[in-house]
Amino acid sequence: MKVTVVGAGGNVGSTVALSVAQKDFAKEVVMVDIVQERDGEKFYPSKGRALDQWESSPIDRFDTKLTGTVDYKDTAGSDVCVITAGVPRKPGMSRDDLLETNANIVQSVVKQLAEHSPNTILIIVSNPLDVMAQVALETSGFESNRVMGMAGILDTARYRSFIAEELDVSPKDIQALLLGGHGDTMVPLPRFTTIGGMPVTQFIDEDRLEEIVERTKGGGGELVNLMGISGWYAPGAAAAQMVEAIMLDQNRIFPVAAHLNGEYGQDDLFLGVPVKLGKGGIKQIIEVDLNDEEQQLLDTSAEHVHSVLQEFRKLMENK
Ligand code: NAI
Ligand code: 2OP
Repeated sequence: MKVTVVGAGGNVGSTVALSVAQKDFAKEVVMVDIVQERDGEKFYPSKGRALDQWESSPIDRFDTKLTGTVDYKDTAGSDVCVITAGVPRKPGMSRDDLLETNANIVQSVVKQLAEHSPNTILIIVSNPLDVMAQVALETSGFESNRVMGMAGILDTARYRSFIAEELDVSPKDIQALLLGGHGDTMVPLPRFTTIGGMPVTQFIDEDRLEEIVERTKGGGGELVNLMGISGWYAPGAAAAQMVEAIMLDQNRIFPVAAHLNGEYGQDDLFLGVPVKLGKGGIKQIIEVDLNDEEQQLLDTSAEHVHSVLQEFRKLMENK
């Protein structure tokens, strides 16, 4: 089993690679990045990070071989490719401000991956996430079950961790669902949030829960404000969990940015929805019965993703 991570000289990509390696189910993880130049000197971040991480294998006890490269030939025959290549948010920036730069990067990366691994499954992480997934789908020409975006696992993990902190209970016992685009319009769903199988509303009053929902929506920005750059540990762990579900055919139910064609009233749009994830990628898009308020929030989120997609289409027309 072979996994490729592109952008792996950076924070999220290197974390995905290490997290996959530490799970120890894959034969190899190929870490791709560009050659970086500083003060006239050349650096190879993917090679450096791969070597550093491989040197942790005797301590953390894994066999998965981590290799760094700048050559896509080394990615040939990958089962799953994760794309984190691009620029991250800085203070004052929204995810959407990254559109033009990251769209160009994602297009070029996807072309090269598809050439060397025509049967691979693509997991997109680069922002603005939902539109970058669409860019990857259209560039690769793959079937839509083989192209998806990572966001919902991260956003629900943030929501679950905040609830765990609030109640002083294990985050493992909190189940939650969140729909929509990966942005401030995302839709955490208290009605589908449980603590050890019991409704969250038995434990947290409505106003406090609303505060936690709002904190979740701004979870990415909270980290940007603290660090001056966006986070990577939870995003990396989330993408690695998707890789594991696919490669081990686990049939996990996760919120994933999936290409909708009629589901949830959306047409030709990527949006975070619950899916069954296993061998071959997305096996099923699960449609949840939403009440009017939830559907309205989801529609608003979809409208936002749609507007960023329109912006991308305009950029392409003027290219
Ligand atoms: P980073 O700057 O640490 O890493 C990005 C890497 O991409 C760099 O090493 C850079 O050299 C590389 N890169 C740039 N152009 C490339 C190309 N053409 N080919 C190969 N590699 C290339 O940034 P970080 O923090 O790892 O974030 C990466 C992306 O993931 C950003 O767009 C960020 O907004 C996004 N992100 C998405 C999340 C999500 O939930 N979907 C969560 C966290 C970050
Ligand atoms: C995050 O949510 C910036 O999308 C990135 O942390």
